Amino acid sequence: MVATAHVGSHTAAIRPPLKWVGGKRWLVPHLQPLWARFRDRRLVEPLCGGLAIALGLSPDRALLNDINPHTINLYRRLKSGLQLTIPVRYESELYYRHRQRFNQLIAADEARSDEAAQLFYYLNRTGYNGLCRFNSKGQYNVPFGRYKTINYATDFSPYRAAFSRWEFSTGSFDALVLEPRDFVYADPPYDVEFTQYTKEGFGWDDQVRLAKWLVRHPGPTLLSNQATPRIVELYTELGFTIQYLDAPRRISCTGDRRPAREVLATRNV
Ligand SMILES: C[S@@+](CC[C@H](N)C(=O)[O-])C[C@H]1O[C@@H](n2cnc3c(N)ncnc32)[C@H](O)[C@@H]1O
Repeated sequence: MVATAHVGSHTAAIRPPLKWVGGKRWLVPHLQPLWARFRDRRLVEPLCGGLAIALGLSPDRALLNDINPHTINLYRRLKSGLQLTIPVRYESELYYRHRQRFNQLIAADEARSDEAAQLFYYLNRTGYNGLCRFNSKGQYNVPFGRYKTINYATDFSPYRAAFSRWEFSTGSFDALVLEPRDFVYADPPYDVEFTQYTKEGFGWDDQVRLAKWLVRHPGPTLLSNQATPRIVELYTELGFTIQYLDAPRRISCTGDRRPAREVLATRNV
């Protein structure tokens, strides 16, 4: 499925600029009918990740937030017309050189620069599985990825047009200031059953905090997550309507390939 986005007066296919673990392009057709009635509203994604939903729904106005400052730096730079001036090739020596330079910028508190955005784009495309992982010192430590070929974008201008009326922010979801009419779609890291703390740093307490933050919003509110019993119970108790969907992939730790069950919880739609 190729997401289509309405850009200015014409419709164009715009792929998310990053590879993002947990990307939800497959969910776009399920959200489109819900969004249709509200499409004059501002779309707010408190945990926007790889932007699959925003690019799929193509709102005129949006507030897109993520705790990961590197994604948001890249989106802001794309909005203002980023161009790649660093060398980009699928080559391990270049990858590790760029990774080292990116880490220098982080250490020097220059991770919000144009150069850091270019490097982040390159590292995301070229690194292992599109992972975004940092060690305890905050250094990016994803190894070189194995691919047949990699296509690096040469023209970022479609993003400039698509993002022109979108606002980007970085921080935790609960620092966002919502307007009552906002259409809010939240897609947190998956709940991992029986676990209080997760490697993504988004544990059960955060899931509960997010649910309680979402239920305070008087406008249309959507949440997707893994359909664990405790997530279903949490959102049911808060008065959300629950719908189940089959995610199109999933290799569990035991290696079976059954589709994961996803929950779509909605309120005021
Ligand atoms: C499942 S991903 C979202 C994927 C996105 N819907 C897409 O289609 O690409 C979850 C995102 O939550 C972000 N995140 C984790 N904790 C957060 C927090 N406290 N506040 C805001 N974002 C957070 C992560 O950086 C990650 O990008």
